[in-house]
Amino acid sequence: MTPFSTLIRTASQQQHTEAETSAFMSDLLGGRLGVEAYVRYTEQLWFVYRALEGEADRLANDPVAGPFLRPELARTAALERDLTHLHGGDGWRGTLAPLPATAAYADRIARVARDWPGGYVAHHYTRYLGDLSGGQIIRDRAERTWGFARKGDGVRFYVFDGIPNPAAFKREYRESLDALPVDDLERQRVVEECRRAFALNTAVFRELGELFPLSA
Ligand code: HEM
Repeated sequence: MTPFSTLIRTASQQQHTEAETSAFMSDLLGGRLGVEAYVRYTEQLWFVYRALEGEADRLANDPVAGPFLRPELARTAALERDLTHLHGGDGWRGTLAPLPATAAYADRIARVARDWPGGYVAHHYTRYLGDLSGGQIIRDRAERTWGFARKGDGVRFYVFDGIPNPAAFKREYRESLDALPVDDLERQRVVEECRRAFALNTAVFRELGELFPLSA
């Protein structure tokens, strides 16, 4: 039987390529956008991670979602530090508004965090395994393009101090996915939710791309 980690990865591969090659991401990684595009993107991430992490404690003892909730993954504090740096102070607090696509994404996460642990795992996987992988490419480009200190303020979101060996961490994470205590039907639903998570990310990129148009 195909391990669940392989199933979820394969099922989202095409959408991964779509997200990766979206105009906004291509322009950002290509160094063609100003720092304000990066700031706006980081702001959207703050809404997403607040939804992912805001009520995660309630899932700590859940047999399905609990094993994934590792404190070394938490990103909200790092994002807040980045935002304070990017905005030159704390003024951003209370003034940020999510893009419509971001609000829809955060709502969906908050909803599954409340009442569907398997769905929460799908969103958890989509974000954190991505951050540990492609996120490192984004950090490298951001440092080069806008001159942030290596692994310093502005890119702390991408720095996992508590995970010295990301490859080993990802291996263990995939083992937890493979051990998910749910039946085949629920696995299929989790895979569908992962596809939805990717689509929600792509929608955010689309709206960011409209704000910062470049690639025609
Ligand atoms: C330009 C942007 C991106 C780049 C360059 C990128 C690159 C990569 C790379 C190289 C890997 C493979 C890592 C490995 O095999 O260990 C990976 C995995 C992954 N990425 Fe991305 N990625 C990007 C955007 C995204 C986005 C937007 C998402 C979703 C929000 C995402 C989610 C994932 C996930 C979930 C994995 C883990 C796949 C698995 O092994 O199960 N990535 N990414």
